[in-house]
Amino acid sequence: MEKVKIFDTTLRDGEQSPGCSMNTAEKAEVARYLERLGVDVIEAGFPASSPDDLKAVQHIAGTVKNAAVCALARCVKSDIDAAWEGVRTARTPRIHTFLATSPIHMKYKLKKEPDEVLAMIREGVAYAKTYCDDVEFSAEDATRSDRNFLAKAFSAAVKAGATVLNVADTVGYTTPAEMAGLIAYLKKHVEGIDEVELSVHCHNDLGMATANTLAAVAAGVRQVECTVNGIGERAGNAALEEVVMALVTRRDAYQLDCSVNTRQIYRTSHLVQNITGFIPPPNKAVVGSNAFAHEAGIHQHGMLASRDTYEIMTPESVGIPEMAIVLGKHSGRHAFEERLASLGYYLNPHELDAAFERFKILSDKKKVVQDRDLEALISSHISENAGRYTLVSFVVNSGNTISTTAIVKLSDGEQEIERVAIGEGPVDAAFQAVNKITGIDFILESYRLNSVTGGEDAIGEAVVRLRKDNHSVSGRGFSTDILEASIKSYINGVNRYILEQ
Ligand code: KIV
Ligand code: ZN
Repeated sequence: MEKVKIFDTTLRDGEQSPGCSMNTAEKAEVARYLERLGVDVIEAGFPASSPDDLKAVQHIAGTVKNAAVCALARCVKSDIDAAWEGVRTARTPRIHTFLATSPIHMKYKLKKEPDEVLAMIREGVAYAKTYCDDVEFSAEDATRSDRNFLAKAFSAAVKAGATVLNVADTVGYTTPAEMAGLIAYLKKHVEGIDEVELSVHCHNDLGMATANTLAAVAAGVRQVECTVNGIGERAGNAALEEVVMALVTRRDAYQLDCSVNTRQIYRTSHLVQNITGFIPPPNKAVVGSNAFAHEAGIHQHGMLASRDTYEIMTPESVGIPEMAIVLGKHSGRHAFEERLASLGYYLNPHELDAAFERFKILSDKKKVVQDRDLEALISSHISENAGRYTLVSFVVNSGNTISTTAIVKLSDGEQEIERVAIGEGPVDAAFQAVNKITGIDFILESYRLNSVTGGEDAIGEAVVRLRKDNHSVSGRGFSTDILEASIKSYINGVNRYILEQ
């Protein structure tokens, strides 16, 4: 069977969306999961956008072995230099150049005439080609471009050496039928199109990103660009898990293969949720918490008779773990390490020591430690150790007849700083104390508590969204104590904000 390549842009387009930024350690972790998931291309970042982005791309390029590593660049020399600097050590590097081709973008954003845009495409792609064999060219806002001009732009890119042509539905405007028509048109009118790979990149503004992506595939596209959980600018990008599960579940309809190991979808989705703080809605296809829940009596009855009545794909096929009790207070380091490995976490001895210490503390508080607890434990370790501030201690005095006060102590490098604050309840008081320490006043846009597993000793997971001026970030914290989880989530948000600044 022919194959569709999966190009993952969680670390670039996904990360680019407000509140989803990740630090280098977090990006490296996501890249590791993507590699294990089996994607073909990892778009690791946009190196010209910041030195941190460049650093993260370099790190990923140096570690990923089984996927191509790609970096984004506008069609300008300095961007292309930075992109190459990012991916040059990768086993399979790719430079991804892009330029807008729609009248509205050319006139108002680029302030260029169509001929100037064509010249920039020629020069940009040819320059990227001096560094790298594999050069992708994306026409930004392709779906609102004049078709004739778009075909010229793509023909110019092929002539200059592009190996992949990407049709970007940048503002999620097109429809499946239109997309299929556009692909057919390009296949007919782009010179040299048979020598290169054709790709699509769909945004979800009208909720059609997955449908448009699949329409393009049915029309002959063989690379799809998507993100885990569909994260990305505005309404996000085509969700990798939806596109892949559609290809796999409806192989009869598409007759195509892809190299993703679908059993890694659940873990990868959770990692990205844990790191970005973006939790898909419960009814989200494939990875929402209700995606495999069958609560209506009539459905349960049907399921008991035969799972096929209401289940078109199994939870196991996307790697949803059984809620088995795995570890407890008396479990040793070896069992712990083995369980982590079976979940896909391979820690170095130093990380393992730290994780085992945390596990011991957790298993003292919790009778049984389930897989999802272990995932939370590892994720919290990553987020708590990746920023400027960490929580040292807190004391909160609260009641319905007194003003609530919180004393919070944070470490900031070598020094420890403690502040007292009064607030409307324990969470607010603790957050105010953190504000006093950091000197940054955030507006709390949202605050949510979930329990990672069931039971009264479950780990609590707090997710906050903080805003300072026009900049918002999310933060996540885990603990069996919900107040501690809340404070950690706030600190995680503060650390992300500082990083993004
Ligand atoms: O949405 C878009 O147009 C992009 C391009 C850079 C491919 O992300
Ligand atoms: Zn995009």
